[in-house]
Amino acid sequence: MGRMAKERADFLVIANRLPVDRVVHPDGSISWRKSPGGLVTALEPVMKLRGGAWIGWHGASDEDLSEFEHDGLRLVPVPLSESEVEEYYEGFSNATLWPLYHDVVVTPEYHREWWDAYVRVNLRFATKAAELAAENAVVWVQDYQLQLVPQMLREMRPDLRIGFFLHIPFPPKELFQQLPWRRQILEGLLGADLVGFQMPGGAQNFTQLVRQRVGHRTARDTVFLPDGRVVLARAYPISIDAAGFEQLSRTPEVIARAQEIRDSLGNPRHVMIGIDRLDYTKGLPQRLRAFGELISDGTIDVDDAVFVQVATPSRERVMQYRKLRDDINQLVGRINGDVGRIGQQPIQYLHASFPREEMAAMYRAADVMVVTPLRDGMNLVAKEYVATRWDDRGALVLSEFAGAAAELKQAFKVNPHDINGMKSVMLEAMRSNAVDLRKRMRALRKQVMENDIDKWADCFLTDLASVGESGQSGSDD
Ligand code: G6P
Repeated sequence: MGRMAKERADFLVIANRLPVDRVVHPDGSISWRKSPGGLVTALEPVMKLRGGAWIGWHGASDEDLSEFEHDGLRLVPVPLSESEVEEYYEGFSNATLWPLYHDVVVTPEYHREWWDAYVRVNLRFATKAAELAAENAVVWVQDYQLQLVPQMLREMRPDLRIGFFLHIPFPPKELFQQLPWRRQILEGLLGADLVGFQMPGGAQNFTQLVRQRVGHRTARDTVFLPDGRVVLARAYPISIDAAGFEQLSRTPEVIARAQEIRDSLGNPRHVMIGIDRLDYTKGLPQRLRAFGELISDGTIDVDDAVFVQVATPSRERVMQYRKLRDDINQLVGRINGDVGRIGQQPIQYLHASFPREEMAAMYRAADVMVVTPLRDGMNLVAKEYVATRWDDRGALVLSEFAGAAAELKQAFKVNPHDINGMKSVMLEAMRSNAVDLRKRMRALRKQVMENDIDKWADCFLTDLASVGESGQSGSDD
């Protein structure tokens, strides 16, 4: 490790989290397990090929770990103190930026101490990257927790090629302007050569703000800085390891487990499923209310349908997340109490996280997948469901407010704020005939299988490599 620690990397990923979770074994020993996300799957080959490293927080406070290797990946932990976890991670990242960028679905809080911690922690990540990066290395910074890193890093290491990708929505100026530190955030991002967004609308919001708030000249996706440098702002809708997911869902174990799940639910006519992080952006209360009403008003029989809602624990020390947890417990209890019967609880609620295999089995067990966020950068669960439907069966109910809606055109679209509308679309999805469902699923599958995470990473990295080359996008036409 001593030798490796001195080696500089030609390709660096910087994200708030490392792509591994710590596992503590019964005997007290620890090991690391690769986290389920698609990002690491996509970047792993690039990292291995180019001698890459991943810089990120390992998830615990007040603990300084040295870099280590896992599965051939070089991982460089960044320490956070307990107060930094509170102020940078839970505070500024998840109680200021997260709600602000998701259309203020809850009210963002603005605290100057949180901002100070955000600056301090961003500087720590940038400093680490500056130490590690080889001459002219490519550095790819991820997500809203690290928006100041591009500029900080450029000041320390102007030789680097810096990309940034925002995994969540970038809000319209009317909302972004609330942020007391709006100009610093814009300038932080402008340190990158390429700023990637999920949707073209996010890229447009950004260039418009840069023009109006920072005063730089822009033309379509290009920002012209006074020193002659250009920054590109473009959309790269993220995806999943689609083939990997399909493959997993075709294994005999997953197929058998899917049947077992249906059996244990009593083999109802309709199995509906929702799988989300327990987050107030996901529209959980709205969808559960819509489903509950379909039963209570007699449209569907309680013996005919079960809704399995998996809510993965998330950010549990942040007040709004605790409140949501209580609200959902209460709502599920009320609905099951009102419309359930002995041995027949229409909502099966699981507050837990599951391994990929179990997720794949749940997708395979579901006739209807219900994804109803009030706002979502992309929503990968919707794409995962589609990837597992290799027999072209099943229906996807999808919110118009998820980034994925732009690509998944044949889904049953809903406005999650409109409970009656959601009820009728859920019903339509349940009652559609097999021919219509197959036609839709085939089109959805074509989209997801052809646009996977590898393609996403390739597009971004290819564009990043060519920013500023003559003939590219620089003209004012
Ligand atoms: C979203 C964000 C990620 C984040 C993930 C899990 O997908 O875009 O940056 O890592 O949620 O949230 P957490 O706060 O647990 O990292």
